[in-house]
This record gives sequence, C-alpha cells and structure tokens, in this order.
Amino acid sequence: MSKFVVQPIDRLEGEISVSGAKNAVLPLMAAVLLTDKPCVIHNVPNLKDVNVMIEILKVIGAKVEIKGNSLSIHVPEIMSNEAPYQYVSQMRSSFDVMGPLLARTGVARVPMPGGCAIGERPIDLHIKGFKALGAEVEFGHGFVEARAKKLVGANIYLDFPSVGATKNIMMAATMAEGVTIIENAAREPEITDLANFLRKIGAKITGVGTDTIKVTGVSEFSGTEHITMSDRIEAGTFLIMSAMHNSNVLVKNVVESHLKPVIAKLRECGVQVETEGDDVRVISSGKLKAVDITTLPYPGFPTDLQAPFMSLLTIAEGQSVIMETVFENRFTHVPELNRMGANIKIEGHSAVIKGSTKLQGADVRATDLRAGAAMVLAALVADCETSIHDIYHIDRGYYNLEEKLKGLGVEIKRIQD
Ligand code: EPZ
Repeated sequence: MSKFVVQPIDRLEGEISVSGAKNAVLPLMAAVLLTDKPCVIHNVPNLKDVNVMIEILKVIGAKVEIKGNSLSIHVPEIMSNEAPYQYVSQMRSSFDVMGPLLARTGVARVPMPGGCAIGERPIDLHIKGFKALGAEVEFGHGFVEARAKKLVGANIYLDFPSVGATKNIMMAATMAEGVTIIENAAREPEITDLANFLRKIGAKITGVGTDTIKVTGVSEFSGTEHITMSDRIEAGTFLIMSAMHNSNVLVKNVVESHLKPVIAKLRECGVQVETEGDDVRVISSGKLKAVDITTLPYPGFPTDLQAPFMSLLTIAEGQSVIMETVFENRFTHVPELNRMGANIKIEGHSAVIKGSTKLQGADVRATDLRAGAAMVLAALVADCETSIHDIYHIDRGYYNLEEKLKGLGVEIKRIQD
C-alpha cells in the first residue's frame, strides 16, 4: 500500500497533458476478441486496469505485445471461454469480455462482477440484452454463463442508458443474424470510440451518439489500428484542479465537446475557460462562486467528475448542492473532505456544501478512484501537508499523475505506507 504526501501550492502555471481514456481502452481491448486478425490499439495509458485486462485476454487466448503506448493484440483462437475470478474480482469492466466472447464462440462464462464502493452495480440490463439476442443465461457458483447456438438480432430497450450494457450488447450484436436495435442506449463518447473501432474491423453500426443504435450482424471481421480517445474524465479533473487556484494552465489533448457541462459549470463559478485547438486553457483567480450540479448520463454532468467538483465547491463562496442520480453510493469522499474541515451534509441523494472553507491538511483515504482524485485536488489548496492513503484506487485511472502534477510545480511524493 502506498500513500501520496501532497504539499499545498498557491499558483498553478504551465501545461499538463491528458492520456488515452481508461474507460474507452478497456472495451476496445475486449472487442479485439471478436476477430482472429491482429489489431493494434494506440494511445493506451499504462494503468493497472489495462494490465488486468491484458492478463484476462491472455488466458482467453490472446497474444499481446506492448510497445510504448501501443498494444498489439491477436486472438487467433479462443483457448478458454472463461474469464478468471482472480482478475474479474479486481476490475468490474472485465465483464466487457462477455459480449464479444458470446458472439465469437457462442459461450461466455464470467464471474459475477459484484458491487463496489460506489454502488451495487447490477448487470440485469446486460443479461436482458443477451437473452433478447437468443442466449440462455444461467447463474451459479458465482458465475454468469451465456450460451447460444446462434444469436439473432432483436429490439432491446434499456430501462436506463447503461454504458456497460450498451457496450456489451452492441459487441454481441455485431455477429447476430439480422438487425439489432438498442433503444435508450448510452451516448457516452467511449461508446462512440468503441463503435468506431468495431466499424473499422467490419461491423455495421449506425446511430452511435444518439439513444438508438442499430447493429446489422456480419459473419467475419478483419484487423485494424485504432487510436484511443483522450480521457475526458482525466481532462475534467485537470480543468477543475486548475480552476481551484490562481492559475493559467493549458490542459493538452482535450476534446472540448466531451466536457460541455463541466466547462459551463466552471464558467458559472467565475473561471475563464478557452479552447485553443486540441487544448483548453484555464485562467482563474481562485475566487469561485457556488453552483448547483446534478449528475446525469452523457451529455449531462458526468458522475465521474462529481467528487473532484465537490472539492472545488468546498472553497467556493456560498452554498452549493450536488445531486447524484447515477450511482446510489457515490459520496464516500464526503467524510474525507469533512476531515479536512469541509462543511458538507448528505441529504438523501444530495450533498449540501457550505463553501468558503480553508481546508486543513490531514490524513485521508482515497475511497475510490474519483474520490481519490478529489482528495488530491483538496490537498493542493489545504493549509499544510496532506497524506492520502489507499492510492491504489487512483492508480487505476490516472496515468503518471505524480509526474504530470510535478510538471506544474506541485510537490507530491509516493511513499510506501
Ligand atoms: C461506466 O460504468 C464507467 N466505467 C464508470 O466509470 C462511469 O461512472 C459509468 O459508466 C457512468 O458514466 C467504465 O467505463 C469502465 P453504467 P458502468 O452501466 O458501465 C445501473 C470510473 O470512475 N445499472 O452506465 O458500470 C448502475 O447500477 C468509473 O471511471 C443497472 O441498474 O456504468 C448505475 O446505477 C466508475 N443495471 C447506472 O446504471 C445494469 O445492468 C449506470 O451504470 C447496468 C447498470
């Protein structure tokens, strides 16, 4: 176990770069299971979750080569239809292999992913989709097993625009006979990135980015090369961090259109945010106004930036309310921020934040990935040193965070706890 020891900083100035998106690259890697031809994925962040997915793919039969930020993956033959528990238990998105495995071989066996720190996270919508495509699904001994002699296209309505279910059903449907329509589909950019990859290997998909996705089954796929989209959540974290200081920071490799609600809220807080080509510049005085936020599926305000934005609102002038509508338990950072002197009360699905706090350096925990990022942001505006424990959560999603922050003059050390 390691911890970060972070010193506060008055002014942030310079450039910070955004890496490839964790939440895009994991399904891209799973999608390679559909084809027996080699694929290369570029702009891959070297994160723990990526390494877990590599291990799962190897067990299934993949040959994987890592060259810098590129991954060559070739699955000439499926050697096992089962994702091993030891890896799935470490990373929920391992469940992404279910759809492609089912499509390619007619059998997929994956351990139940279970809940995590932010909620129960059921998989009922994934299962509803597989069944609609003609699979028989059984649960037993901690596994989900789907079997189908043949998948047949269907109309599938998702009760909630689940990102995971949309990805899994879309991948399963690529090889189903006939047409599949996914209604109330998720519209997240990571779904579009996955669909772009699938189209490159030969899938027929239209409607991505809207709530109705149409997939026409094909029987064979080719190989391809693909550049992973830039991480909108890492980018948003850096924009929020910059806004919290007296700053002039250029956040590089940002797709501004992916972050419209976040940029709008930063501007409401009084921050200057300007697009410069593929980069976004934040100029802030560090004096911020309170704003209210409701998290929503894309294109609404992303739940993954709720915790980092809450850190910002602890120092903004006035009272803010954040309503979390996507996950039922995504306020585990609140007690940690309160340990630093914040004044936040949870009322049902809302957090009421009384601002203008001078946060105090303290020992705190990263209770999940984005909650951990929120603690780093809070630590940078505290009155003295903060130690953030359990940073393995942060390592799952922020590539090279210490080095990137050091580039802006931040003093941050990783210490064995
Ligand atoms: C993805 O999770 C992301 N993870 C999450 O990022 C992100 O917070 C989430 O989408 C929402 O944007 C990855 O891409 C790896 P969902 P996912 O299915 O696919 C309910 C991070 O910090 N639901 O859209 O699991 C579910 O319980 C992570 O990087 C069902 O009820 O999200 C939740 O309340 C955390 N039944 C809501 O839908 C289902 O079958 C959204 O879940 C599936 C989901």
